[in-house]
Formats: sequence, structure tokens, C-alpha cells
Amino acid sequence: MRRIKLPFAGGLEVEFADRGRAIKQVEDFAEKGTRYPIIVFGPEGCGKTAWLKQSIEVLRKYGYDAIYIDPLHKKFIAYTDVEDAVKRLANATAEVIGVAEVKLATLAIDVVKELIGIWRRKYVAILVDEVFQVIGIEKAGMYVKSLLNLVEYLPEGYEKIVVIAATSEGLSRIEIGRHRWSEIMPIWNMTSEGFKELYAEIPNPKPPLEDAWKMTGGNPDILAKLINSNWNSNEVIEKIVEGRKLRSFITSLSIHERKWLLEAVEDPDTLFMRERMPLLNKLVELNLIVDDIPERKQYLWIDEPPPERNLELGIGKHVAWQTPIHREAVKRAIVQC
Ligand SMILES: Nc1ncnc2c1ncn2[C@@H]1O[C@H](COP(=O)(O)OP(=O)(O)OP(=O)(O)O)[C@@H](O)[C@H]1O
Ligand SMILES: [Mg+2]
Repeated sequence: MRRIKLPFAGGLEVEFADRGRAIKQVEDFAEKGTRYPIIVFGPEGCGKTAWLKQSIEVLRKYGYDAIYIDPLHKKFIAYTDVEDAVKRLANATAEVIGVAEVKLATLAIDVVKELIGIWRRKYVAILVDEVFQVIGIEKAGMYVKSLLNLVEYLPEGYEKIVVIAATSEGLSRIEIGRHRWSEIMPIWNMTSEGFKELYAEIPNPKPPLEDAWKMTGGNPDILAKLINSNWNSNEVIEKIVEGRKLRSFITSLSIHERKWLLEAVEDPDTLFMRERMPLLNKLVELNLIVDDIPERKQYLWIDEPPPERNLELGIGKHVAWQTPIHREAVKRAIVQC
């Protein structure tokens, strides 16, 4: 199978690296179809979009017509010879800003229905990227229901459909999880072996692999950000502090919460207590932490699960910092307030 090329830091392009198990899982979906929409969530920048795009290649190999949409950035990839479908998706992306995003999200579902109902395609896949930010968290459940409808109301004699959606939005997981309309599966940052493979694609000069691993925790987007800042980790940390207004956040905390946050910097599992839940939820909302992490059983995860606990990387059993850099940003903001 062809490994796709991906834009990385600056002008650098890399080849899709590793994620061997995640690719196998897509092959499995392609062979059996998905009985429920698969909703994949994970740290921002861990590689969800890259995996969805590589999945198009897998599905093509299995003879699927596949539609990938990224409504937030008004982008799509349509692998089908039904020209009308491609044209309509293209037209939707050209609509006025604010309209195009939602239109693309709903149109993609209509197009898939037509591929099945009118064009009689036997194998169809729809891959949806970050749709919940566009349609609003409160409508996330309804959108997933309409994805489920695609699976449930296939006409007689129909072969297979694959439905996958990805999100880094912690809150949408709660909204979607309230219904039994999907299978929610987490994905984590790359494994050390996988990260090594990606790191080998980065030209010299670069720090030793071990240093990059400790800073990124295997998150490819943080790696790209470090490269873009000439390996100045302070710059990357400060940008998170500024971008998330972390000083305002810290200032809004009670004395207790501030103490708990300091403890969480050392061990994120200390947040997993009744009275600390409101603080934990705020950190999830700020996309700094992933909470309620499932057991590390392979069948619960896309690709390889993270380690059971690795405090150096900020990973606890139940709660984890998205990356060591996210944790450093919080630490930095505490010091500054
Ligand atoms: N397996 C991989 N091999 C090579 N590059 C990768 C891989 N996974 C991700 N990348 C690159 O790392 C960066 C971040 O990945 P990507 O955008 O896919 O993450 P994401 O989880 O979708 O992020 P977000 O939460 O912001 O949507 C991108 O430049 C992407 O091309
Ligand atoms: Mg993405």
C-alpha cells in the first residue's frame, strides 16, 4: 500500500509513518464494514487526520468509494468516479464562510446515501474529521445519529459501509457518549518505535531522539512545532500559555484548586477524585488533559494504547496530560501568576 505524503514543519514533507495496528484495524473495518460509526478521539495533533487520510488509501485498495471531509477547513477528498458527487462537494466548499462548513458536513451524508441508493456502489466509506467543532457540541449526538442511520438503513443486498469520525474535542466525547449510537475509541500519541520512524525522516541537525521523545511524548504536531521554532521548547510552551489564556485560567482558580493543579503536574491521576472533578473538567475543556482513559486493552483502542502509567510523560492510569509540553505550559503559567 502506498504511504501518503504529508505536509509537516515548514516546507518539510514526510511519509506517513508507523501506525501499523491502526492500518490493520482499517483493513478489518474494510473487510467487515463498521456496524456502528466509529468515533475516534485523542490528543490534539496526535495524528488523527493523518490516519484518516492514510485510511483512504486502505479503503481504495479494498474497492471502496471513499469520501473524506474536513468541514472546519472546508476540505474534502472524494475517491469515486461519480463526478456529480465530487462536483457537489466542491461547490459546497465554495459557499460563503460559515455556511460552507455546515453544508459540507450534511452534504457528505447525502452524497454517501446517493452513492449507495442511486449509483449502486457496493462498498462506500465516509471519514469525517473534526465535524463537531463546526456543527456545535450540542448537535454532536444528532450528527452521529445521522451517521448511524447510514449504517442501519442500507438497502437490501447492500455490501459494506465504513463510517469513521475523528475529534480532539474532549467535550464532544461526553455528548456523544450519552447515546448508544456509536463505538467510541481512543487513539494516543505515537509509540516510541513509531515516533523513531517519523524522527528518522527529519533532516539533521536535530537533538537526540530521546530528548525529542521526552518533550513530545510521541505527538507529531508538537514535533513539528519544535522544528518550526528551531527546537526552542520555551517558544512552544509560551504559545500554549498565550493561546489558551492560561494565566487567566490560573487566576480564576481557588487556593485549593491551585494546589491540586500543582499536584496534577506531578501526577495527573490525583485529579481523579470527587472534589477535584470540576477542575479536571476545566482542563479537559481547555484540551490540556484527557480524562477517563480506558483500560489498556488493545481492542478498546485504535493503534497501540499508551503505557499504563508513565509519569515522566504525564500519563496516569485514568488521566493524562495530552503531551509533556501541555503539562509544562500549565506549570509555566502557575509560576507566572
Ligand atoms: N503517522 C504519521 N506519519 C507522519 N506524519 C504524521 C503522522 N501522524 C501525524 N503526522 C503529522 O503530524 C502533524 C499532526 O498530525 P494531524 O494533523 O494528523 O493530527 P490531528 O490529531 O488530526 O490533530 P488535530 O487534533 O489538531 O486535528 C501533521 O503535520 C501530520 O501530517
Ligand atoms: Mg485533525
